[in-house]
Amino acid sequence: MKALVLSGGSGTRLRPFSYSMPKQLIPIANKPVLEHVLENIRDLGVTEIGIIVGDRIHEIAPVLGDGSRFGVRITYIPQDKPRGLAHTVVLAREFLGDDDFVMYLGDNMLPEGVADIAAEFTAERPDAQVVVYKVPNPTAFGVAELGPDGEVLRLVEKPKEPKSDLALIGVYFFTPAIHQAVASIAPSARGELEITDAIQWLVTQGADVRAREYAGYWKDTGKVEDVLECNRHLLEDLTAEVAGEVDEASVLTGAVVVEAGARVVRSRIEGPVVIGAGTVVEDSHLGPHTAIGRDNVLRRAGLTYSITLDGAEVSDVRGLHGSLIGRQAVVGGSAQHRLVVGDHTRVEVAA
Ligand code: G1P
Repeated sequence: MKALVLSGGSGTRLRPFSYSMPKQLIPIANKPVLEHVLENIRDLGVTEIGIIVGDRIHEIAPVLGDGSRFGVRITYIPQDKPRGLAHTVVLAREFLGDDDFVMYLGDNMLPEGVADIAAEFTAERPDAQVVVYKVPNPTAFGVAELGPDGEVLRLVEKPKEPKSDLALIGVYFFTPAIHQAVASIAPSARGELEITDAIQWLVTQGADVRAREYAGYWKDTGKVEDVLECNRHLLEDLTAEVAGEVDEASVLTGAVVVEAGARVVRSRIEGPVVIGAGTVVEDSHLGPHTAIGRDNVLRRAGLTYSITLDGAEVSDVRGLHGSLIGRQAVVGGSAQHRLVVGDHTRVEVAA
């Protein structure tokens, strides 16, 4: 089995971050979402991975390289602009050959993995197998109506009146039967070739299409709130490890990771917290549920339930909660509120 990972898309809901970096490189528990995805796929025993990339290839390729760091082989497949999930299957035709494959959306996190669902697909080889999850807002997703044995009766993309609350989440298993399907459908109202429509085409042809409900934790990391919440979830499994320096005056409780070259001075760290390599934390209070990137400088800072990216600086500001602070961003205190704020940024100041 091969894998096709989708890492195009413009990430409008993650502005301003997505202006300067692909949304799939946003770190969760100090690791880009795409790396979590690759590790998940590798854990299925799949090592041939095609990644669909748009104009962000020059940022993604240096981070993931040829995949050897993860024990996989990556082939980058360019897409000129987002034309739909089914269109990526057309683009990847040569890479996929006549192999079965798992298609994985590069901004979806399923930390418990889909090994059992993959094993079932490999053993029984239906024409296609989708992964579904009960959601409170099915109108925002592709929705599956199932028969008693998990057979797919009907799939509808973003239905106005959903007939079920089972959403298609970002993982699909396909046999080569999908190639005829993607070649047979027309673009949807939003002008894209929908994978939901391609799978529905298979259903209409009488193909064996099944759905399996994912039982673990799932998050589409398309929005800041979801990134923070997923970070919280992943940090729950953190194991304490101090490779950097912690002085005598600091207190660490719970699971705290201090990476190599990081220094914690006169600070209180309430795990789960991860502090990236080369970061300096002084006279600060961090955590819980906080991930600090590499080479940050935090002085007299207070952060809970937050993420900072590499090179950020926070000084003389306490009470930061639910914050996502970008690369090289500087957050500082002053007697009055003074904001230098870029496009599509959101700032909430305590009244
Ligand atoms: C896409 C699919 C949709 C699926 C969703 C999962 O939607 O079209 O069927 O439920 O991913 O995240 P999009 O994110 O393109 O709106």
